[in-house]
Amino acid sequence: MREGRTDVQAVKERIDVAAVMSRYLSLVKSGQTLKGRCPFHKDDTPSFVVSPEKGLWHCFGCGEGGDLFAFLMKIERISFPEALEKLAAEAGVVLKRRGDGERDELFAITAQVAALFSENLHRSAEGEKARQYLLGRGFAAEAWERFGLGYALPGWDHVKGAFAKRYGTKVLTDLGLLVESKGTFYDRFRDRVIFPIVDLTGRPVAFGGRAFDGEPKYLNSPKTPLFDKGRTLYGLSWAREAISAGRSAVLVEGYTDVLSLHLAGIPHAVGSMGTSLTQGQADLLARFADEAVIAYDRDAAGGAGALRGMTILRNSGLSVRVARLPEGDDPDSLVRREGPARVNELVAAAAPFHLFYLDSLKDRHDLHTHAGKEGTLEEARPFYQGVASLPLRQEIAGHLAGLVNLPLERVMEDLASRPSRQAGATEPSVERREWGEQEVMLALMLRGRADGKKVFSLVSPEAFSEAYRPIAEAMARAADPADLAALMVDLDEESARLASYLTLAPVEFSDAEKALDDALAKLVTLPAIERRLADVREEMKRTEASGDRTRIDELQGTYRALVVQKLSRRKTDGNRQEERPA
Ligand code: CTP
Ligand code: MN
Repeated sequence: MREGRTDVQAVKERIDVAAVMSRYLSLVKSGQTLKGRCPFHKDDTPSFVVSPEKGLWHCFGCGEGGDLFAFLMKIERISFPEALEKLAAEAGVVLKRRGDGERDELFAITAQVAALFSENLHRSAEGEKARQYLLGRGFAAEAWERFGLGYALPGWDHVKGAFAKRYGTKVLTDLGLLVESKGTFYDRFRDRVIFPIVDLTGRPVAFGGRAFDGEPKYLNSPKTPLFDKGRTLYGLSWAREAISAGRSAVLVEGYTDVLSLHLAGIPHAVGSMGTSLTQGQADLLARFADEAVIAYDRDAAGGAGALRGMTILRNSGLSVRVARLPEGDDPDSLVRREGPARVNELVAAAAPFHLFYLDSLKDRHDLHTHAGKEGTLEEARPFYQGVASLPLRQEIAGHLAGLVNLPLERVMEDLASRPSRQAGATEPSVERREWGEQEVMLALMLRGRADGKKVFSLVSPEAFSEAYRPIAEAMARAADPADLAALMVDLDEESARLASYLTLAPVEFSDAEKALDDALAKLVTLPAIERRLADVREEMKRTEASGDRTRIDELQGTYRALVVQKLSRRKTDGNRQEERPA
C-alpha cells in the first residue's frame, strides 16, 4: 500500500483525536461534534469543528481541515513522517518503515519513465507535435535537455506497456503513472508535453503534463510516496543556490514561468504550481529564503487563494512583497517580450504585502457606498489586529482612513474594537460553496451514505472537475472507499481540506438514495443523453440533405423520446439538501 498505510491505521485506531487537539485549543461538545476557536486564524466565533467519530476537523472560517496528521503538521510545523512518529510513540505503535530499497526502486522507476518521456520528445514520430509546440514557445532543444522535458504519447497504454510487466500495475498506480477506472488500468499522461518535477537533489519524483488544447490544461501527478505537491516547489533544486545566496526568492505560478526566468538568467525563481500556496511550501521556502517576491499574473494575485497563500508565507516568517505585472502578462510572457531587465525592475519595485493587501480591498468592496466602507473595515480588522508593530499598524490605519475617506482617529478606534456581533455573527461563518452533483456525490460517499464501489463502477474519476478529481481518484483506487482514515492519508493538503469540508459541512440529506440518483443522473446519464441528442441532430442534418422521409420521421421520434428522458431526469431534482441550523 501507500507510505506506511498500515502504521497509519494502527495509530489512528489508538489515538483519541479530541484529546490530542484539546492540548492546543479548548473544545466544547455540540451534538455529535466538538467546537472551538480555530488556532489557524483569528477566530471570534467558534468556527472550528471536530468529529471524533470520523477523525476529521474543519474550520468553516478559514477553510483549513483534514485529519489528525494534518492538524499536527500544521500546528507544530512538522512533516508527515514527523507527525506519524510523534503519534506512533504516543500510541505505542512500532513503525514498519518502507525500506530504503523499496524507495530506491520507486525513484528508479520514476527516472526510467522520465527517460521514456524524454525519448518520445526527442525521437518519436508523434513527438513532432510536441517539438514544434515547444520550439514555437521559445524552448529550444537545450532547454528540453536542461529541464528534462518530455512528451507522453497519445494512446492509453504506452507507460503501462513499457513497465507493467516488470514492476506490476500496483506500484505504477501508487506512483500516479497509471489510473484505475472500473477495474482497468491506463496511462494518466496521454498526448501531453511533460514537465518533470524533481526533488531537492534533482531526482524526478512526479510529472506535470500540458495539453496542447484540451482540458485540463495541466494534469499533475497525484500525491504519491515520492511526491506531495503541497510540500514541493517547482524548480527549487535549480534555484536553491541562488536563493540561499541572496536569501530571496521570486515565486511564480507556472512551470513555464520558472523555465523562462531561469533561461533568461533569473535563477532564484520557483513555482508554486498554481496560486494556492500551502504551509508546507512556505516552510520549505523559509529554509532557504528570508523574503519572497510574488510574481503572479495580475488577476491571480488578487484572488482569495493567492491572498491566503501570501498570508501563510508571512506567518512562516518570510517577508513578502508583491510585484505588479502588466495586465494580461505572466512572468513567462513578460520576460519573452521585454527581457530580464524589465522583470528585475518589477521585482525590485514590488510592494510590501500589507500595501498590496490594502490596495486589493478596493477590488472587493465598493468604496462609494456605506456598506462597502463598512465591509472594508470589517475585513481589515483581523488583519490590522494581527500586526504587532505599532508603526506598521499606524501606517495601515492611515491607508485605510484614506480608502474609506474617514478621520484617522475614528478609523483606528473602529479597527481596535472587538468584532461586531451583528445578527448571525455567533454562527460559524460557513464557507460559501455552491453544492452541485459532484459535492453531493462525494459528500454522500465520505459520510458513508453511498457505496463508493458502486458509484465508481458507474462513474469514472475523470468525470469530476479538477478540484475534486484527486478525491475521486483516491476513493476509486481505495481498497475500502468507506475507510476515511486511509483515504485522508492519500490526499494532498488542498484535497484534504475539501474532503473535511464535504464531510463535516452542516448539510443534511433527507433522502440519501434519491440525492445519489439525482447526482448520478447529472454526472452520468444527462451527459450521455446530451451526446445521443447531438448524434441524432447530426444524423438529421445529413438525412435531410438526402431527403429520406421515413428515416427523418424515425429520427424525430428518437429525438423527442430523448428530450422527454432528459426533462424527466431534470425533474427528479426536487430533493435539495437542507441546511441544518447550527
Ligand atoms: N496548474 C495546474 N492545473 C491546471 C492549471 C494550472 O496544476 N489545470 C498549475 C501548473 O503548475 C501551471 C500553473 O498552475 O503551470 C499556472 O497555471 P496557468 O497560469 O494556467 O498556466 P501557465 O503556467 O501560464 O501555462 P502556459 O504558459 O503553458 O499556458
Ligand atoms: Mn503562461
